[in-house]
Amino acid sequence: MRNRIVAGNWKMNNNAQQTQQLIDGLKAHQPYKEGVEVIIAPTYVNLQAAVVATNGSGIVVSAQNMHQADAGAYTGEISADMLKNIGINTVIIGHSERRAYFGETDDLLASKVAKALAEGMRVIFCFGEELSDREAGNHFNLVTQQLSDGLNGVEESQLTDIVLAYEPVWAIGTGVTASPEQAQEMHEHIRSHIAEHFSDTAAAAMMILYGGSVKPGNAAEIFGKPDVDGGLIGGASLKADDFAAIINA
Ligand code: PGA
Repeated sequence: MRNRIVAGNWKMNNNAQQTQQLIDGLKAHQPYKEGVEVIIAPTYVNLQAAVVATNGSGIVVSAQNMHQADAGAYTGEISADMLKNIGINTVIIGHSERRAYFGETDDLLASKVAKALAEGMRVIFCFGEELSDREAGNHFNLVTQQLSDGLNGVEESQLTDIVLAYEPVWAIGTGVTASPEQAQEMHEHIRSHIAEHFSDTAAAAMMILYGGSVKPGNAAEIFGKPDVDGGLIGGASLKADDFAAIINA
């Protein structure tokens, strides 16, 4: 039986005070339902404060991105070592906004995934199709390709440090959620891809999250599907009451 993960991607939201307030709000809702790992991903400048503020709460703090090099002349970038040094061991890689607005390609993402894993970090690897891919009936192929490219070079023994997050781009921040059936059929597809490329055991253990307009009102139905192991939440993770309701769903 797989555990559950509910992760909040705060994106470019919340200054230092708001970060503290939101963490206080989340802690006020504890204890959460058993068996759910709760992750929050504040922006870089607030990561260290978030690690301190969540200390002892069981809430895990993740980065939203990282660079693939060890160190050096990469203005504006953050390395795995810098993250680990402040107690961050989880990183989101491949979010559709990184792909769309910052030109992150499948090859680049594969190098980030490889670097994070080599550094002993856990990766939440995101992927998902655009509406045009779905309308053209190409969504399964595209997701297969994003997975093969992003996990290129990953060994089966490293899969325990990977969490997959299927996020159809047309559902992110739009208020339009994939139906529970659409989520389930894609998650099943993803799991069978893992089985084919690695093993049945790896596929059975793989955590696959759904992301895209998950709200308190639709979370239980989506999370109730057999291949959905939790969610990556954007907008609704910015309100303690909503995020707690999703965690407990
Ligand atoms: P959303 O974002 O919940 O606001 O749709 C999800 C995400 O981008 O991870």
